Amino acid sequence: MSHHYLKFDHVHYTYPNGYRALKDISFTLHHGDKAALIGTNGSGKSTLLLHTNGLLLPQSGRIDVGGVPISKQTLPLVRRTVGLVFQNPDDQLFMPTIEEDVAFGPMNMNLPPDEVNKRVQQALKDVGASEWRERAAHQLSGGQKRCASIATVLSMGPDILVMDEPTANLDAKARRQLIRLIQGFSHTCLIATHDIRMVIEVCNRVLVLDEGQLIADGDSQTVLQTPEVIEKTGIETEQFTPTLVL
Ligand SMILES: Nc1ncnc2c1ncn2[C@@H]1O[C@H](COP(=O)(O)OP(=O)(O)O)[C@@H](O)[C@H]1O
Ligand SMILES: [Mg+2]
Repeated sequence: MSHHYLKFDHVHYTYPNGYRALKDISFTLHHGDKAALIGTNGSGKSTLLLHTNGLLLPQSGRIDVGGVPISKQTLPLVRRTVGLVFQNPDDQLFMPTIEEDVAFGPMNMNLPPDEVNKRVQQALKDVGASEWRERAAHQLSGGQKRCASIATVLSMGPDILVMDEPTANLDAKARRQLIRLIQGFSHTCLIATHDIRMVIEVCNRVLVLDEGQLIADGDSQTVLQTPEVIEKTGIETEQFTPTLVL
């Protein structure tokens, strides 16, 4: 098994108010997998993603990133491997300018200034954000903020890229750019999304959450045509017709 795998092994998580958000989740992503995580609002997608880099720790079960079990002790190593783009970009942008936000991660990795600068310019270019690099987050639209938040993670060069609803708020051009970027990313991706057309285009694999339970996990075509998945997620199957896949 390559060192870029992500393994959930019987993971449970209950919020402090007693809500059981994840129930016995087990799956393994292998190097190069592009996996979608789908499910209705409140099914547990964001909660699951917050476990991939240790922002939430499982109350029982275990999560392994390339052979390293996630725990308080391994968090620095895990966070260099797993890059998580939050559902809300405002959680990721806190420096005076976008450029400084994108430089924050690589600077904390103690990379030489030339390398930091190279990564920052490349990440900004990859998401089409170079033009507004000197703006503050509050001067950007929702879609621009989303692109900037993705750049803050790309600049760290993650082996596993995890994104929470990355195409939300994006216009057609930015969405297309993001799809190309994901297609060109050679490592592992896990993407929570309602954008089924993107899933069909970029994901080889689909995981389905329903009320905190993983009800399906398999290749995209098979999972998206499973009657239980269609019923529980409400996905519209007309999206599958080839004419609609750009
Ligand atoms: N901090 C929290 N405290 C209590 N319950 C929460 C908290 N965050 C999320 N939840 C609940 O956990 C469930 C899963 O939420 P979430 O993972 O955000 O779902 P999704 O991303 O699929 O929309 C929801 O019912 C939500 O209300
Ligand atoms: Mg969510």
